[in-house]
Amino acid sequence: MEPFVAVDVIAAKRDRAELTDEQIDWVVDAYTRGVVAEEQMAALAMAILLNGMSRQEVSRWTAAMIGTGERLDFSGLSRPTADKHSTGGVGDKITLPLAPLMAACGVAVPQLSGRGLGHTGGTLDKLESIPGWRCDLSYRQIVKQLEEVGAVVCAATEGLVPADRKLYALRDVTATVPSIPLIASSIMSKKIAEGTGALVLDVKVGSGAFMKSEAPARELAQTMVELGTDAGLRTVALLTDMSTPLGRAVGNAVEVTESVEVLAGGGPPDVVELTLALAREMLALAGQPDADPARHLADGSAMDVWRAMVSAQGGDPDAPLPRARESHQVVAQQAGTVTRLDALAVGTAAWRLGAGRARKEDSVQAGAGVLLHAKPGDTVREGQSLMTLLTDDADRFDLAEAALADAVRIEPADGAATSRTSVVLDTIRTTTTS
Ligand code: URA
Repeated sequence: MEPFVAVDVIAAKRDRAELTDEQIDWVVDAYTRGVVAEEQMAALAMAILLNGMSRQEVSRWTAAMIGTGERLDFSGLSRPTADKHSTGGVGDKITLPLAPLMAACGVAVPQLSGRGLGHTGGTLDKLESIPGWRCDLSYRQIVKQLEEVGAVVCAATEGLVPADRKLYALRDVTATVPSIPLIASSIMSKKIAEGTGALVLDVKVGSGAFMKSEAPARELAQTMVELGTDAGLRTVALLTDMSTPLGRAVGNAVEVTESVEVLAGGGPPDVVELTLALAREMLALAGQPDADPARHLADGSAMDVWRAMVSAQGGDPDAPLPRARESHQVVAQQAGTVTRLDALAVGTAAWRLGAGRARKEDSVQAGAGVLLHAKPGDTVREGQSLMTLLTDDADRFDLAEAALADAVRIEPADGAATSRTSVVLDTIRTTTTS
């Protein structure tokens, strides 16, 4: 005999009541067991989207989601653990240099990652462009690699938060993804269940991000930091700019190449800045505030961990990466200063070139993507190449160029505002508990 009736729980949220702990525990568990029907959870998700949740409700919802599956435990490792989660952006390859960098600094990174959907890329898709590299590791293999190498980036294990797998698929087809309590609980349930000791969130703001403006991004960041804090996980969030792509490469193999440049002590300044900013927060949370991540990029020790990390997962760090068969240049229509390079447009172009997928089942092209030769603040000549489009299928160029129609603004050099700003907009630390 079930203790509640789903219709009563839906009606309570519809009428703006605060759900009790017992109602939340039951409805999340009963949905995962198939007792609460898909249409009932769809109605409840819409009621949550429209009427919101209190801090207590979202905290309990997150705990109930975690309770539907297994929890990983890395407390037996010889070093502290810390992880990073990004809400997703264009050219966001930061995990690739950051995970080995943290390991070089003495902090282990257990990163359970995902694939890309739509205009945002996925970390696993990028790493899978390395010949031989595989992402399906067992819990035992993850622990072994963390102890021996210090960093793992792999697919989430099957048993991790099964409620989220089911609920996220339902939200996707019922227009209930953009709810701050549901996004925050979805992300944080997985990160808390993953067993990391500390967590830094990279919450992106701008056209290429989930959150297009600062106010909702700030609210999402605050909610996630509170959820982490309530669950006893040391959590900080950075609000970072995603109005323009990160770095100069957007795609899969091309982003691996750029990440290796960062690990070799070079790479684009915005990628280096964000990698170091996130590393410093992770090190502080993991109790290593004096470690110097910039030194580990410069002295090759982070690169050594990268090579070990790729090899441990079957990849060949020396193998040439796949290259697209076809390329096409997008040139400047006038001379001047680039004042806008829209992240969403570039992400959509990369997706249309084959770097991303429209549905979960689609495959991606390892070599497809966009190389950016001019970023906001750069001056360009008329006819100069702004971007190289890369794909295996030349018939994709028209669609990609259509996506880029309004992506770039060039203004006369003397009148343009050219100041480059920091990619980190703010840091959100909340220490108070409910
Ligand atoms: N990413 C997640 O994991 N969950 C959401 O709800 C949205 C983005």
